[in-house]
Amino acid sequence: MIAPVRHAQLDSEATAKTVQALIARHRNQPGALLPLLHAVQDTFGHVPADAVAQIARGLNLSRAEVHGVITYYHHFRSEPAGRHVVQVCRAEACQACGADALIDAAERLLGCGLHTTRHAAAVTLEPVYCLGLCAASPALMVDGAPHARVTVAALERIVAQLEIQA
Ligand code: FES
Repeated sequence: MIAPVRHAQLDSEATAKTVQALIARHRNQPGALLPLLHAVQDTFGHVPADAVAQIARGLNLSRAEVHGVITYYHHFRSEPAGRHVVQVCRAEACQACGADALIDAAERLLGCGLHTTRHAAAVTLEPVYCLGLCAASPALMVDGAPHARVTVAALERIVAQLEIQA
C-alpha cells in the first residue's frame, strides 16, 4: 500500500503564522517568490488563497504578481490536492513514448480527468512537464515517488496500491 503524503491542516490564524515564518525565512534571498511559494505548497499541499495577500505584503509585490506566478506554473495549486497525487509527464520525450495513452489509462483507472480531484478527495491527477527521467520515459510521479518506463500494466499495479476507494 502506498502511504499518502500528509500536509499541515491549520486554522486561518495558524496558517497565517506559518506563512509569516516562511516569508521571514525566504524574504532576503534573491528571487524569493518562487522558493517561498514552493515552501508554502510543501507545507500545505497548495497555496491557500489567504496567503496570497500576505506573501505580496511580505515581499513588497502586488497581489496580481503573486497570483500571476501561481497560475503560470502548473506545479502550484490553489486548492488542496487529494490524499494521493498522481502526476503524469506530458513533456516532449514522454509524449513521444506514449504519455497520452498513459494519461487516458490514468483517467480511466482513477476516475478523474487532469487537474481534477476524485470525489471524497482521494486522488488528484495532474500533468507535469519533465521529471528529469526523459531517458526512461514515459514517466510519472505518485505522492512524490518517481516511476520510469511506465506501461499501462505498470500503472494498473501502481493504482491498485493506492487507497482510493470512495
Ligand atoms: S520529458 Fe518526461 S521526464 Fe522528461
